[in-house]
Order: sequence, then C-alpha cells, then structure tokens
Amino acid sequence: MKKVIYSQFGDESVLELSEQAVPTIEKDQLLIRVKAVSINPLDWKIYGGEMKLMSGSKFPKSVGIDFSGIVEQTGLAVTRFKAGDAVMGLLDAFKGGALADYIAVKETDLVLKPANVSFEQAAALPVTGLSALQIMDQLAAVGPNQDVLINGATGGIGVIAVQMAKKRGARVTAVVSTKGVVEARQWGADTVVDYTKQPIKLLNQRFDAVIDLSTKLSFTEAKRLMKPKAVFVSTLPSPLTLLSAFINNFFSGQKRRVLILKPTVDGFTTLAKLTEEGLQIVLDKIYSLTNVRDAYREVRRGKGIGKSVIVLD
Ligand SMILES: NC(=O)c1ccc[n+]([C@@H]2O[C@H](COP(=O)([O-])OP(=O)(O)OC[C@H]3O[C@@H](n4cnc5c(N)ncnc54)[C@H](OP(=O)(O)O)[C@@H]3O)[C@@H](O)[C@H]2O)c1
Repeated sequence: MKKVIYSQFGDESVLELSEQAVPTIEKDQLLIRVKAVSINPLDWKIYGGEMKLMSGSKFPKSVGIDFSGIVEQTGLAVTRFKAGDAVMGLLDAFKGGALADYIAVKETDLVLKPANVSFEQAAALPVTGLSALQIMDQLAAVGPNQDVLINGATGGIGVIAVQMAKKRGARVTAVVSTKGVVEARQWGADTVVDYTKQPIKLLNQRFDAVIDLSTKLSFTEAKRLMKPKAVFVSTLPSPLTLLSAFINNFFSGQKRRVLILKPTVDGFTTLAKLTEEGLQIVLDKIYSLTNVRDAYREVRRGKGIGKSVIVLD
C-alpha cells in the first residue's frame, strides 16, 4: 500500500510516497481504508522540525492527522463499528500516519461519518471541529449574550468556531481578510472586521472571549480587547506560554488559556450530531496523493477559505 513518510525534517521536498505493508490490527483496533485526509498547519510545523520536542526525532515519520474512510476489518474487542461502516477520525497528532491507503485505529478515535457530508468534508472535520468544541466548552465557556471575538475566522477552526459560538447564543465578531467578509456573515457572524483595512488592536469594543486562531495576536495586545473578567484563547502551546498562563491566571481576572487538543468520544458524538443538524464544513482545495508535496506547499503558502484535503484512490 502507499504511505507518505519522511526521513529528515525540512520543507515539503522531504515528503516521499513509499510502499509499505498493510498494517495488522490489535483486538481493540480497526483497519480503515482511507478515503480522504485533511491538511493541517500542525503537519508542516511537525515535518519542518518546529515541534521536535513533542514529535521526537526518530525517522522515518508519517504525515496526516484526521481522515475519513471505510471500515475494512474490526478487532475482536471492537463493539461500535462493523466492516463497511463509513467513518471519520483522527490519529495522534505527533505520530501522524493518516496519509496511507490503510491505517489501524482505536475505536475511541472514530465516529460514524454523518450521511449528509462527503468523505472529503468528513476528513476536514475532526481536528478543526474538536478544537472548536474544546474552545467553546472548556477554554472560553461561550454562552448566551456573550461578546466573542474570533480572530482568523475563515481558517479551518474559525469557520466552525463562528457557527458554534452563534449556536450558543453569543454575539460574534469575526476577524477575516477581505476574501472572507461575505462568507463570515453567512456563517452567522454579527460583525465582520477586515483586518487588512482595520487593525483589531484599534477596536473600541470589549469582549468576554478573544479567540486567536491566527497566532498573530499576543496576550498583551488582546488584553485591550477584553472585559475585566474575560478569557483569551490561543492555539500554540509551549512550556513558556503554559507557565505564563498559569501565573497570569493566579493573579488576574483576565484569563489566558491555551488549546491542547484532547479528543474524546463525547466530543466526536457531539460533532457528528452538529454536522447532521447542518454545521457547514467549507472546503477550499482537493488534491490527489500523487501531488502531496504541491498540496502541502500551496496550502502552507496561503490559502482560500476553510480546509484543503487530499483524496486517496
Ligand atoms: N494546540 C492545539 O492542540 C491545536 C490544534 C489544532 C490547531 N492548532 C493551531 O491552531 C491554529 C489555527 O488552526 P486552523 O486550522 O484554523 O489554521 P488556518 O486554517 O491556517 O487558519 C488561520 C487563519 O488565520 C488567519 N490570519 C492570518 N493572519 C491573520 C492576521 N494577521 N489577523 C487575523 N487573522 C489572520 C488566516 O486568514 P487569511 O488567510 O485571510 O489571512 C486563516 O484563516 C494553527 O496555528 C494550528 O496549528 C493547534
């Protein structure tokens, strides 16, 4: 079977299409025939070597976190799925490996694919959807009548986060570049700010939650946008930011929280339900496995709106 691997850190030129044996499964695992895999910013941070503290430096390594596919075979202890089921799920972000014809996955890392979305859309959902859900439920506790600012609202997480915040009854301000102004309103944003025309640091409004998905807004800058008892959520965990957040939260009413994605079966179930109820999953580009280097290069250099995915034959 085909699988994308790399044997040194670097840019997209390190990615190789290799021939491997189909994995064998443990009794609590399923063998999945992969249909589509999404491209995440985390992928190039890992193969670029930026996260080697977390990923380790042992090669060869594999690429691809979230995926959709069809159950080919189930281990003896698997109870929730059967051969032929269409599923979506995710692998350990730092080990990767979804970009392969077949993968072995634990049943806790999967959910049935909602029937109303394509395999391409389903592959685009686990990382972004579970991240958005964790931000809404645990980190920012977004609820009715709160003022929520989402910085980077046309990205993978942003598209979903705007819709989830709106569904929870919040008043949503979406920060986007010009290409996303119309779409952000369609997903439910009450106010849309084009950051190429209006720097958000100069906004007069104060928010209950400032969610930065762009990685460009510091906590110091965000504080000026926050009410006295508000929350700032960022998405790049590092020992320094986690320590700073811990110290800040001890003394200040303005809290600082950092996303570290922790998938749960409940999270998967909620995501599938929200999708069946009409959550919009927005796809940008669809690539084939043979163009894997170009796919990652193009998406890393700048992209449209929503998620790009790679399809397997
Ligand atoms: N810690 C974790 O567990 C975890 C889990 C998942 C993701 N993440 C991280 O979370 C971040 C967001 O993920 P994603 O999938 O949503 O990424 P993404 O699809 O690349 O979205 C990032 C968004 O930021 C916007 N942006 C860029 N510069 C901006 C600026 N100056 N002001 C406002 N917006 C700006 C981009 O919009 P334009 O293209 O219009 O500029 C884009 O829509 C990534 O860094 C990812 O690595 C972390």
